[in-house]
Amino acid sequence: ARAHNLQVTALGGGSNLLLAGDIAGLVIYLDLRGINCVDSCKDSVTIEFAAGENWHKAIEYCLQQGWYGLENLSLIPGNMGAAPIQNIGAYGVELCDLFVSLRAINIATGEVLIMDRQACEFGYRDSIFKHQYKSTHLIVEVTFRLPKKWQRTLNYGDLKQLPEHASAQQIFDLVCQVRADKLPDPKQLGNAGSFFKNPTVTPEQCADIIARDPKVVHYPMPDGSIKLAAGWLIDACGWKGKSVGNAAVYEKQALVLVNRGGATGGEVVTLAKAIQTSVYERFGIRLEPEPVVI
Ligand code: EPU
Repeated sequence: ARAHNLQVTALGGGSNLLLAGDIAGLVIYLDLRGINCVDSCKDSVTIEFAAGENWHKAIEYCLQQGWYGLENLSLIPGNMGAAPIQNIGAYGVELCDLFVSLRAINIATGEVLIMDRQACEFGYRDSIFKHQYKSTHLIVEVTFRLPKKWQRTLNYGDLKQLPEHASAQQIFDLVCQVRADKLPDPKQLGNAGSFFKNPTVTPEQCADIIARDPKVVHYPMPDGSIKLAAGWLIDACGWKGKSVGNAAVYEKQALVLVNRGGATGGEVVTLAKAIQTSVYERFGIRLEPEPVVI
């Protein structure tokens, strides 16, 4: 690609990606495989995963080995190499909580970088790979450290129903069940998971919205800001089940846009923009897309 001066685009499982048109240059599908336990000490186990490993299968493998900590992130579609790009998160756990480092290749120079948590600049569904390193680096390997003294995370929504001493397998099973009930399987109905991030607002902005819509779903954050449920905002604007061409808002979860078959990237973008406009007009909130759009 370098010799022919071609732009390079990396592709993982493709499940957090919206193709708005054709891709110029060379697309590299990262199918590197391998899971290696590189260190096991008294307190933790350190595991390297090649970028092409399927995320969910990797968690299943960890459970079989007795390595716990990632089970709250079960059934998230996609491959290992894409997971750090948006710092995947669900049910009270984010990738960055257990992440140690990753190996990335600079596409222009071929230089190999080892990047730790700080270097990746993780945020909520965010990392350096969505900004400064967007399209410039390929992630080829991701390393996690899982503590041997496992701490369950049961404080999020549906997981609160589990017993205090729930096993990692019970958490895994419940997360799979909740996700399967709420979210469409991208293999059956094209989608990129949550299409927008949950926005954060100041307590004053939130009070203003509550005064108008007392039911708005909101969560206070440790830094004093308030996170609003984007799904609720979109639902309140009446979008569930609505469509533009073959792109539609999923009936069971307004935060998910689906391809009912044959939708173009343009139709999805038009639908997303219409949703953003109506949420802005009603609540004064600008929703930010979550998937990578190429
Ligand atoms: N809600 C509605 N109507 C809807 C959708 C949601 O009223 O159509 C309300 C729900 O009743 C609930 C609240 O909004 O009170 C939040 O909904 P939910 O618990 O389903 O979670 P979410 O905020 O929509 C986030 C993540 C998901 C993750 C779940 C569980 C984001 C953008 N999304 O969804 O992540 O699985 O929490 O942790 O943060 C993804 O990133 O692709 C993704 C699926």
